[in-house]
Amino acid sequence: MNHTSRRLLAAPMALALMAGFASADTIRVGVIAPFSGPFAIWGQQFQQAIEVYQEQHGPMAGEHTIEFLYRDTGGTNPDVARALAQELLIREGVDYIGGLVFTPNALAVAELLTQSETPGVIFNAATSMITQQSDYFVRTGFTLWQVTVPMAEWALAQGITTAVTTVTDYGPGLDAENAFREAFTAGGGTVLDSIRMPIQTTDFAPFMQRVRDQSPEAVFGFLPAGPPTYAFTRAYNENGLREAGITFLGTGETDETTLEALGEAAIGLNTAYHYSAAHDSDMNREFTTMLAQLHPGSVANLASVGAYDGAALIYHMVAAAGGDGPAAIQAALGHAWESPRGPVSIDPETRHITQNVYIREVARDENGRLINREIDTIESVPDLGLTR
Ligand code: PHB
Repeated sequence: MNHTSRRLLAAPMALALMAGFASADTIRVGVIAPFSGPFAIWGQQFQQAIEVYQEQHGPMAGEHTIEFLYRDTGGTNPDVARALAQELLIREGVDYIGGLVFTPNALAVAELLTQSETPGVIFNAATSMITQQSDYFVRTGFTLWQVTVPMAEWALAQGITTAVTTVTDYGPGLDAENAFREAFTAGGGTVLDSIRMPIQTTDFAPFMQRVRDQSPEAVFGFLPAGPPTYAFTRAYNENGLREAGITFLGTGETDETTLEALGEAAIGLNTAYHYSAAHDSDMNREFTTMLAQLHPGSVANLASVGAYDGAALIYHMVAAAGGDGPAAIQAALGHAWESPRGPVSIDPETRHITQNVYIREVARDENGRLINREIDTIESVPDLGLTR
C-alpha cells in the first residue's frame, strides 16, 4: 500500500491494515456472499468449491498460507455488504476480498477496495460496468452481455425473428435486455415487448400472459439464479407458453441446483451460459467428482465454477505478489489457465474473464439425470458489454 492510499483511509483503518502486514506469511481472503435467506445456496456453493480447490492444491500459494473467511450478506443488501467489507479489512486485516453475488453488493464495496488497494475477486456479480468502478476488481464469473449476445445470435440462426424480453428490473437484467435487443435487431429480428419484473416478484403468471398476448416466436429471460429462475421456468410451462410454441431462450434458468426439481418440463429448454456441470473434460470430471465426494448430494453450477476459478486466480495472485494489492492485480492481467468450464484468461483491458460460451439444451444423460447438454460453442468471448 502506498502513502497516498493510506492517507485516504480513516486512521483506525490504516493502523489495522498496517498491523495486518506484520503477519504476512498468512494471506487472508474474506468471502462475501449470502449464506442465509432464499439465496443461501450461493454461499454454500462458493464455500464448497473453494474447499475442493484447497483439497486439490493444498493450503499454500507460493510461500504463503491462504485462509478463507466467510461473511453473510443475506441477499441483495449493499449496506450490509459494505459493512462486512469494512469489518474484514479493518478488524480481520484481510488482503483480498472474494465472492459478491449481487451487483448492488459489489458496487457497494468498490470504493473500499480502491482506498485500501485490496483486490476484489468477483465470483458472480454480472453487470458489465462493475469492473470499471474500481481498478481492484477482477471477475471470474460472467456478464449478461457475454452470454446474451450469443443467445440472440443463435436464436436468429434458428430462424427466430420475433421475441419478447423479460428481465428482473436491476443492473444485470437491464444489461441482458439491452444485449438481447442490440444483437437480435442487428441480425434482423424484432423485439415485440421488453418486460421488466420487480426484483421481489414471486408470481410470474401475469408476465407470462403479457408475453402470450404478443404471440412472439421466442421469450428471452434473465432473473437472478435461485428461487426466481425456478419459479419463472415453471411459469413458462404452466401458463402454456411451451404449448403455444414460444421458444424459451435463457441464461441461468436451468441451473443445476434446481434442474431436477423442474423435471420433465425442463427438457428441451435452450440457454447460453459459460458453464455446464456436464462439460466434457477431465478437469471438469475431477472437479464435479471431488465436490460430490466432499459434499454428498452437491452438484456444481455457475456459483461453483465462479468460486473455484476465483480461488485459482487468488492462489496465482498470492504466489506472485503476496499481500501487495497493486502487484497482485498486475499478476492477474492476462493470466490464462484451464478451468472446469474450458480455457479462460483475464482480459487486461476489462479485468473480466474471457471464456467460451456454450449453447445448451436440457436433456437426460445415460443415467436419466437432467443435464445442460452443450450443443454449440462460441469460443473465447470477452465481456461484450465493455468490448464490442
Ligand atoms: C447480479 O446481481 O449481478 C446477478 C445475480 C444473480 C445471477 C446473475 C447476476 O444469477
